[in-house]
Amino acid sequence: MYTISDLQKLVEQELEKQQFVVEPKGLYEPIEYVMAMGGKRIRPTLCLSACYLFNDDIKKAMKPGISLEIFHNFTLLHDDIMDNADVRRNQPTVHKKWDENTGILSGDAMLIKAYQYAAEIDGQHLKKVLDLFSQTAIEVCEGQQYDMEFETRHDVKVDDYLTMIRLKTAVLLAASLKTGAIIGGASDKDADLLYEFGENIGLAFQLQDDFLDVYGNIETFGKAIGGDIVANKKTFLLLNALQLASGSLHKELLTWINAVDFNAHEKIEAVRKIYNSLKVDELAKEKMNFYFEKAIASLNEVKGRESMKEELREFAVKLIQRSR
Ligand code: IPE
Ligand code: IPE
Ligand code: MG
Ligand code: MG
Ligand code: MG
Repeated sequence: MYTISDLQKLVEQELEKQQFVVEPKGLYEPIEYVMAMGGKRIRPTLCLSACYLFNDDIKKAMKPGISLEIFHNFTLLHDDIMDNADVRRNQPTVHKKWDENTGILSGDAMLIKAYQYAAEIDGQHLKKVLDLFSQTAIEVCEGQQYDMEFETRHDVKVDDYLTMIRLKTAVLLAASLKTGAIIGGASDKDADLLYEFGENIGLAFQLQDDFLDVYGNIETFGKAIGGDIVANKKTFLLLNALQLASGSLHKELLTWINAVDFNAHEKIEAVRKIYNSLKVDELAKEKMNFYFEKAIASLNEVKGRESMKEELREFAVKLIQRSR
């Protein structure tokens, strides 16, 4: 009988066993560095948990779980270059510790490694899992492209934002669960319900990430605070603030968005103050709860091990209340 915390530990142990460094070290050491620097290991844990809903034999879900974690970390390497982020998990990002070319190429190698791990599953489920993986990976790229394009666009709506975070973040959590479900032998209906559960948890998860980017504690969050504000990321907070602000407050917000030369600290403080006065943080929390409820409704319909369903509910609560 496994709890989610047991499964998380098994993932950690399996990751420790992996030997990522061979020659040339310049390519592989950054991979070892990012894989060993921690992280919550949410995706492989969800993969194993979903498998365990239907099957005692969770070993079969381990390699695809590791594959999902490698893929996730690959997206972080490239994301940190794109977002100009210097710190992740309280340590220098790969492109800061090495350089951008290293971040690009080590990231590319990780994407390939992720496919190699995924391809190790047994033939019965191989095509289904690889098709899902490819579909998800391309959607993450689409989401990341929207995220970048939105920085300089002025016509982004809340629905556009939701589409963007569904693609860049939610589909990977969804696919992690569905992969585990497929390997565990779930029916198509249950696999799809778990995908929906993951998608809605994923939307709430990215809303919380955007919330923590403004309101988090730097040490706990492990990333710089205010990066989204500096880059004019069209987050739920900013889009709602733009909609709700009127008169001089609206003008002030636009001035910060259009500012070319500015002190980052001053911009972050000023925009956060505007968010506070409009209470957009509360709107974000309400939206998170909305997706949380939707997620739970899908999970409730799944026909799987009840104790693991209960664990997944608790896990989902922790994900949206998290501070890191
Ligand atoms: C960070 O993901 C990127 C987002 C999708 C917000 P996580 O918050 O899962 O990152 P780690 O792996 O735990 O560091
Ligand atoms: C993460 O979005 C999406 C992906 C990495 C695909 P963010 O850019 O908000 O993630 P963090 O905050 O840097 O982890
Ligand atoms: Mg980003
Ligand atoms: Mg980022
Ligand atoms: Mg973020």
